[in-house]
Amino acid sequence: MNVGIDKINFFVPPYYLDMTKLAEARKVDPAKFHIGIGQDEMAINPKTQDIITFAVNACKPILTKEDLAAIDMVILGTESSFDESKSAAVILHRLLKIQPFARSFEIKEACYAATAGLQMAKNHILSHPEKKVLVVASDIARYGLNSGGEPTQGAGAVAMLISQKPRILALEDESVALTQDIYDFWRPSGYDYPLVDGPLSNQTYIQSFEKLWQENKRRHQRSLKDYTAIVFHTPYTKMGKKALSTILENEEKVEQKRLLTRYEESIGYSRRIGNLYTASLYLALISLLETSTSLKAGDRLGLFSYGSGAVAEFFSGTLVADFEKQLLKKDHPTLLNQRQELSVDQYENIFNDSLNSNLDTDFNDPLPYSIEKIKDSIRYYRRS
Ligand code: HMG
Repeated sequence: MNVGIDKINFFVPPYYLDMTKLAEARKVDPAKFHIGIGQDEMAINPKTQDIITFAVNACKPILTKEDLAAIDMVILGTESSFDESKSAAVILHRLLKIQPFARSFEIKEACYAATAGLQMAKNHILSHPEKKVLVVASDIARYGLNSGGEPTQGAGAVAMLISQKPRILALEDESVALTQDIYDFWRPSGYDYPLVDGPLSNQTYIQSFEKLWQENKRRHQRSLKDYTAIVFHTPYTKMGKKALSTILENEEKVEQKRLLTRYEESIGYSRRIGNLYTASLYLALISLLETSTSLKAGDRLGLFSYGSGAVAEFFSGTLVADFEKQLLKKDHPTLLNQRQELSVDQYENIFNDSLNSNLDTDFNDPLPYSIEKIKDSIRYYRRS
């Protein structure tokens, strides 16, 4: 039985910052951000939009009544939780009106969490083929004003519906995971921003990819020719390219060109959004599927998931016939183009205007599913 991604969609908040303007404000050569880091725009969310509002907005356009009746598991991968106990998946389940006899829970392991959710969803469908699982990755990537990680921030969500007979990507059983207990990026309880060792994080990301690539080759007798494209977790768009380059060094020019072209197709949306933590790999997948004109049914895609701390996984899937019919190709560029640009002052004001979850407040953000009010430390969401 084939199990995999039947539907996929992303949502980002309606504001962005131009990276040239951020570079000028920080007295940095804009080429460092555009070329050195590889980011052109950065998604910014107001305090009235959070991981729930991103998640509902990512799910709504793809879920039908039949899906809501068939989903019996809701998995939310995030590292931007606002509750130490109650899972955001439970709120998502209610707002989407999914049938009540479902499991809803959150998974945490930095940016890797949604991949754990995806693998769990696949196993669940293998034993319950008539059911569907909703896997959502939703995050706010924040490092702080003037911090080293500032140009690699972002916000948004990716939603995926997992089922048998998937119409986009059939997940294969081949996968290799890797766990290493290191402190490259972590956020102790009570900290607003992560603690980051940037160089160590880059190094561990690359080294994890190399280890997994070698182990995948050994276990499954695979070579680069078996993969039409390799899609990477994309904390910033230069990162995956550095990892990919390590395995291209001894390849023929034509192979190098093929994989680097697919890589460029996979980072188009990330360039305009920034890091989505758990959702970044899946945003890259959407970008590849919607941008590339050379993909066809049966093509094998390799996917590299990396979560600091660190857990990484290399896995694969094959494209299903007519996969392009399931994509929201026109909607995504529209979503990005309709966003409002912020000045650096506006961005800094929004950044500093943080939500106080313990203060009863009414808000006036017209976006459906924005936070309407906080009362007794509970967030209430505007429906439409
Ligand atoms: P930095 O110190 O600002 O930048 O940190 P840099 O000095 O290393 O420069 C970056 C690149 O820009 C370099 O290129 C420079 O040469 C180039 P590279 O050597 O890397 O190829 N550069 C220029 N290029 C053109 N024109 C110029 C110019 N000047 C310099 N004028 C860093 C960068 C990414 C470390 C920082 O932003 C950071 O700490 N970000 C957060 C951590 C991160 O994203 N790590 C990535 C791997 S870990 C991961 O992916 C997990 C994560 O998503 C979290 C999770 O799992 O939950 C982060």
